[in-house]
Amino acid sequence: MYVARTIVESERFLAPARKAHKETGLVPTMGALHNGHMSLVDCCRGENEITVASIFVNPTQFNDPADLEKYPRNPERDLEILSSAGCDMAFIPGMRSVYPAPDNRTFDFGKLGRIMEGKYRPGHFNGVAQVVSRLFSIIRPQRAYFGMKDLQQLAVVRRMTSMLNLPVEIRACDTVREGNGLAMSSRNELLTPAQRENAGLIYKTLVDASNKSGMEPGELKRWVTRRINSNPFLEVEYFEIVNESDLQPVEKRGDAEGRLVGCIAVRAGSVRLIDNVFFPNFEPL
Ligand code: PAF
Repeated sequence: MYVARTIVESERFLAPARKAHKETGLVPTMGALHNGHMSLVDCCRGENEITVASIFVNPTQFNDPADLEKYPRNPERDLEILSSAGCDMAFIPGMRSVYPAPDNRTFDFGKLGRIMEGKYRPGHFNGVAQVVSRLFSIIRPQRAYFGMKDLQQLAVVRRMTSMLNLPVEIRACDTVREGNGLAMSSRNELLTPAQRENAGLIYKTLVDASNKSGMEPGELKRWVTRRINSNPFLEVEYFEIVNESDLQPVEKRGDAEGRLVGCIAVRAGSVRLIDNVFFPNFEPL
């Protein structure tokens, strides 16, 4: 696997590939890799001739400095994992390669940017859009791969890509879960063993909620929140039932437009976990 730490090094590998009309897929990551990232690499390898994974802990998307400080970092291990997963190039740039000057762009994602993660992590999506658009212009991939766990991020990246007319196809890959159902996330490394075990309740509750056929969204929201909050290790920050199409909250069954998704953020101590589950059985009464 070729490792590029600057744009010049990256071009040394990618320019000849572009000249040979090889299609490139990008898996953007912040490192601390787990099997969720590996499934993105697998999807990418299946659809592209060249697979590039980037590792960059992007400061502009952290609204909480303590979260940035404690974000898990293990670049040497990450490079070994990417290499054994068959990745062709790892791009592991420093701050100056990504942001040679401060990025002052402000993206307006409208209502999409003001709910759920947008509401609880102000500025987060602006930072995600900044870094992802920069990675796209450095690597110039045909396709880029994102996990469904971060469903709202996926929607924001799609919106940013079309706002900037970038010729990149955004591909979504399924959430990968630990044995107890907890969605894989780099932040899981920061949980104590007891928190990690108890956090399995989040997915279990979402699945049980998705199978409840008679409740209105408000009732279901209270049921989910009560059940998770009754566990001493967990505290719900938000739980919303939203339309898949625009991620806007649905207050009444009758207002559903197509499939619904239950999206949740939960705190386990100082660690913030997010997840979502599609509600196939949530038909209008
Ligand atoms: O999902 C992530 O790991 C990050 O938000 C991303 C997309 C790599 C941008 O920094």
